[in-house]
Amino acid sequence: MREAPIGVFDSGVGGLSVLKEIHQLLPNESLLYVADCGHIPYGEKSPEFIRQRCAVMADFFQQQGAKALVLACNTATVAAVADLRQRYPAWPIVGMEPAVKPAAAATRSGVVGVLATTGTLQSAKFAALLDRFASDVRVITQPCPGLVELIETGDLHSEALNRLLRSYIEPLLAAGCDTIILGCTHYPFLKPLLGQMLPSSIILIDTGAAVARQLQRLLADRDLLAVGHAADTQFWTSGSPEHLGKILPVLWNKSGVVRSFAL
Ligand code: DGL
Repeated sequence: MREAPIGVFDSGVGGLSVLKEIHQLLPNESLLYVADCGHIPYGEKSPEFIRQRCAVMADFFQQQGAKALVLACNTATVAAVADLRQRYPAWPIVGMEPAVKPAAAATRSGVVGVLATTGTLQSAKFAALLDRFASDVRVITQPCPGLVELIETGDLHSEALNRLLRSYIEPLLAAGCDTIILGCTHYPFLKPLLGQMLPSSIILIDTGAAVARQLQRLLADRDLLAVGHAADTQFWTSGSPEHLGKILPVLWNKSGVVRSFAL
């Protein structure tokens, strides 16, 4: 079981930002990645629809013999993680949520911005996060429709992306945010562009590395960490395997074979 793979999924390529962190921290682990590009964006879909998609992918990873599951998607986590844990009580499942706690600790201006999908920002889980960790700071939330679709093209410096991102950042800067949470796994890929747009004093916070550490803890507790195994990463997409194959070198820094996920 230690040498079994870990299943990781997202609505698209965003979860690759998390997969990179997992691979860096746990290089001996074999990874399976599903990008549900045929149903993107989750951020504008109903929680019920997202729960159905997550159940399909979780069943697939079970059939593949995955020893753990990572929801590398904030929107999927708020909609479906409770459901999945109920369905598979013995399976280590790691979800992710916007890093409100570290952002509240990091801000000096007392104003924190959150870039995330509409679905994440409207969820009860996000409201509970704010109640719990953000009572002493002002939080400005910014839904970002359209951003994910532009990132999915793999062109991280397009004029359209530049323009849309700037329109989402400006209200946060105007409100005095000195700390910005990247609350969607697609957004870490915007760091180079954000670096050009933002004053260097602005702190950007994402949760990919923390998720990788949480996965490591869960596996270690169960004595499930791989030992001395030549790691292998496999990719599937419900969108176009050709397209994902083409942009993998940009987002994953390596090429890879991508198979069709037709479920
Ligand atoms: N990557 C996803 C997240 O972390 C959502 C993208 C989408 O809207 O599909 O929230």
